[in-house]
Amino acid sequence: MTVRAVVRGVGHYLPARMVPNSEFEATLDTSDEWIRTRSGIERRHFAGEGETTSSMATAAAEAALAKAGLTGADLDAIILATSTADFTFPSAATMVQQQLGMKGGFAFDVQAVCAGFVYALAQANALIVSGQARRVLVIGAETFSKLMDWTDRATCVLFGDGAGALVLEAEIGDGEPTDRGILSTDLHSDGSYRELLYVDGGVSTGTTGVLRMQGREVFRHAVEKLAATAHEALQKAGLTAADVDWIVPHQANLRIITATAQKMGLPMSKVVVTVQDHGNTSAASIPLALSVGVERGQIAEGDLLVTEAIGGGLAWGSVVLRW
Ligand code: UT7
Repeated sequence: MTVRAVVRGVGHYLPARMVPNSEFEATLDTSDEWIRTRSGIERRHFAGEGETTSSMATAAAEAALAKAGLTGADLDAIILATSTADFTFPSAATMVQQQLGMKGGFAFDVQAVCAGFVYALAQANALIVSGQARRVLVIGAETFSKLMDWTDRATCVLFGDGAGALVLEAEIGDGEPTDRGILSTDLHSDGSYRELLYVDGGVSTGTTGVLRMQGREVFRHAVEKLAATAHEALQKAGLTAADVDWIVPHQANLRIITATAQKMGLPMSKVVVTVQDHGNTSAASIPLALSVGVERGQIAEGDLLVTEAIGGGLAWGSVVLRW
């Protein structure tokens, strides 16, 4: 008898304001062609007036709860992966908790930048497997438009805003790789790479700061580390790449996504790709891709999924789950 964290519902929210690449041509020395060919991004959404990480997270959570046939009152915990909480504190998760009318249980944020959702899934799995919670809402939500240096063409064209959410529930499995639910997790970080990707503000500067990235270096680490962590997670689950139905990768760059799939020996027909429509939404990118993948009819019950992500820290990791 093995307790598994099984997906009951998935949902997402994207702000109404959609910005095509061409909009940057007016203010920056860039082009739609450069952005498409170097990153695969065609458009992204930016939060509108009054829209925040917690408001988008709440909208995504409501969509996921509706799919699960549940309400906030049915949850034991909320874990929200974000690097762009509305305030330094309280956590955005507790703001979502209040918006959902959830009086009991507990809620907290996880901050592992673009790897945040993978980290949050691993924490939710640990809570469920250890019996500390039965139903956990896991959200990835970001407002990276608030962290952009709009004069830096190497970064501001790459990111977008949005939110995605999953409801996980304890279910008894056989302890086999054929079980539904989270089958393995694999997390890593290495603080010595801090300078490659960071925000130059925070409580130590008294400013929010803006994102700084050495893109080429991050790219190099991404391809190598993502394929390795996916391999490790599959191995822990007693599976191989040949068993995978869908890679649901962090959506930062189509060239990273393609190179990682290639390294894993899998064709692009087994990869859920949304980067063209969302840009890089950091911790929101995987739950957004899961929700869109289900809507498109790509991901179906029983499919074996590998999610993998890397971001500031550097922090990276992957989760293997059967949908
Ligand atoms: O989610 C967190 C993890 N982040 C990532 O995974 C991002 C990883 N990195 C990347 O996705 C890519 O490195 C970028 C998309 C950021 C850049 O692509 P690249 O092929 O690595 O380009 P590059 O940084 O080597 O720059 C090539 C050229 C440079 O010009 P020179 O020095 O060759 O004259 C840049 O100045 O492209 C220039 N450039 C641009 N040109 C037009 C940089 N940004 C732009 C731009 N438009 N927006």
